[in-house]
Amino acid sequence: MENAKETIDRIREAMGDRLVILGHHYQSDAVIAHTDIQGDSLELSRKIGDLKAEHIIFCGVFFMAESAAILGRPEQKIHIPDTGASCPMADMAEAGRVEETLNILQQSGRKIIPLTYVNSSAAVKGVVGRFDGSVCTSANARTMLAWALKQGDAVLFLPDQHLANNTANFLNIPENKRLLLPRDVIDGSPALSIDPAGAEGKRLIVWPGYCPIHEEFGADAIRALRERQPEAKVVVHPECSPEVVREADGDGSTTFLIKYVEEAPAGSAIYVGTEANLVNRLAARYAGVKTVRPLAVSLCEDMGKITEANLAALLRDIETAAPVTVADDVKTAARLALTRMLDVCA
Ligand code: 13P
Ligand code: SF4
Repeated sequence: MENAKETIDRIREAMGDRLVILGHHYQSDAVIAHTDIQGDSLELSRKIGDLKAEHIIFCGVFFMAESAAILGRPEQKIHIPDTGASCPMADMAEAGRVEETLNILQQSGRKIIPLTYVNSSAAVKGVVGRFDGSVCTSANARTMLAWALKQGDAVLFLPDQHLANNTANFLNIPENKRLLLPRDVIDGSPALSIDPAGAEGKRLIVWPGYCPIHEEFGADAIRALRERQPEAKVVVHPECSPEVVREADGDGSTTFLIKYVEEAPAGSAIYVGTEANLVNRLAARYAGVKTVRPLAVSLCEDMGKITEANLAALLRDIETAAPVTVADDVKTAARLALTRMLDVCA
């Protein structure tokens, strides 16, 4: 009997350019081996509009497939091998709560511009679009926060508090001009305790979400490493806490991290603070030339829900499989938010 790899190879061959498989850098090697295009969130969302294929399979987490469904043409069908691969950070911002929060904050009469990290649901992007806001990724957060600050009196950045604060540090927004919202915006409390007066005079209002995978990296580990191996370099993803980013030699998107390792001189040692699949792949790619190590081993279980087995199962039924869809009203508003980002960062 044919194994999963053989099934995938056979169906890809038969479908030719009717099919494109995209993969985020955090996918396992087994899945990445079957992808036509790999990238970070920004690169992958930019590609969608140019793809001619009728079927696009997104190997990543659900918000990525949803973004593709929002940006894709009506005749394109976007699929994900496991619709249960969600992003725990994206799940920390529920659309109704975001809208409620914006309404409370606007009671002060100030114009609050929402800026959502791409790691958020289509419904959240829809709310953001309706409130004149936009989207950012880890690759363009600095540009997009600078843009959003010019559109109103203050920015509500969601859901990642660390990306918000790391970007604000880069843009020199003083800490006393920032407000961290109470945890009840995420924990489902029946009533919100936000005091609109507390947002007076603030430039940045921060949603208290975070990525559990990037919380695993600590500044102490970097300090200990510096003692042991002072010549080693440390680079991290900006979903790590500001304390970690401050201790590192650089921070940036997954593409930035890949490029940093690629450009490091032969013989160097680089510790990378991001998801382990990507770090292990880089370690294997440069084995014998440079030493690449994870700062700590941290795997995203949701990214890991995509496997060769469920990719093969999806391909077997691809002609009849239900694609990822987004309701028309949400889609229109979310597309507005996403295209504002693509226009600003063209
Ligand atoms: P990138 O956009 O840097 O690839 O990051 C996406 C993500 O989910 C990081 O946790
Ligand atoms: Fe979400 Fe973190 Fe996984 Fe990225 S690594 S998909 S932010 S949980």
